[in-house]
Amino acid sequence: MKMLSHGAIVGPFFCLCLALLSTAWAQTPRAQNSADVDLTARLKETETTPRLLEAAYKTGAKVASFCGNCHGEGGNSLVAETPNLAGQNTFYLLEQLRQFADGRRKNLFMEGMIKALSAEEKVGVVLHYASKEVTFKPPVNAALANKGQEYYGKICFRCHGDQGRGNEKIARIAGQQPGYLAITLKRYRDGSAVRNDPLMAANTKSMTDADIAAVVAYVSSMK
Ligand code: HEC
Ligand code: HEC
Repeated sequence: MKMLSHGAIVGPFFCLCLALLSTAWAQTPRAQNSADVDLTARLKETETTPRLLEAAYKTGAKVASFCGNCHGEGGNSLVAETPNLAGQNTFYLLEQLRQFADGRRKNLFMEGMIKALSAEEKVGVVLHYASKEVTFKPPVNAALANKGQEYYGKICFRCHGDQGRGNEKIARIAGQQPGYLAITLKRYRDGSAVRNDPLMAANTKSMTDADIAAVVAYVSSMK
């Protein structure tokens, strides 16, 4: 049911978006197919070259005006199941774009759309969102969040850090949308084909739904 109602909203929107994308971006010459470009090297070079960085922010802001329809203005999503991109780590973001593009991570809309982005657009939009601030949301249920903090301090901090900000390659999870966090943790735990990762599978396999609810209450309210 959930999937159906989601599809019903996204379906027409998807077509509209693709139509808009193909008209807007057909006018920009495709420099190089991004599969042919080493995106990581391109990102590093852009980050360390002021002239390239300035151009990348401009490109990124243009692309983001479209992504913002779902991921929210400045990358703070207003939809529980759509992730914030604000403050997210650059190499992690790039890696997720790659995973959507090559099918390791599955989401019909994202997979289609990512294929329409050039290497410049990917690098630009990643830098754009990484530079934005995450909006702080206080915990809805403080007692539950305290329980989650305890769990977090035993396991999750080892990779995501005391503040939930991860590092270059590991996701920032602090302040992430609660609905998205819960779905994502269950996917890792249950070995879903939609999304999987060996490290996260190992670290979620003994979580109960109650543990997940507590950790989500805590993580979504981290600054
Ligand atoms: C129609 C809505 C929609 C639009 C427009 C959209 N996205 Fe997404 N995006 C989603 C959803 C939903 C997910 C979560 C998929 C999942 O559950 O794994 C997502 C996931 C992502 C992720 C993974 C984030 C993470 O924390 O792992 C990235 C990166 C991303 N989108 C980038 C973009 C970019 C860049 C654009 C614009 C070029 C864009 N998205 C446009 C709906 C959208
Ligand atoms: C051994 C290191 C490690 C530990 C411990 C760990 N994680 Fe992760 N986590 C990762 C890696 C690596 C990824 C990126 C995986 C991918 O690409 O899908 C990730 C991804 C995630 C994501 C997806 C982020 C997004 O934006 O989509 C969430 C949520 C998450 N972890 C939460 C947790 C929680 C909660 C715990 C504790 C129960 C935890 N992690 C423990 C390494 C770890």
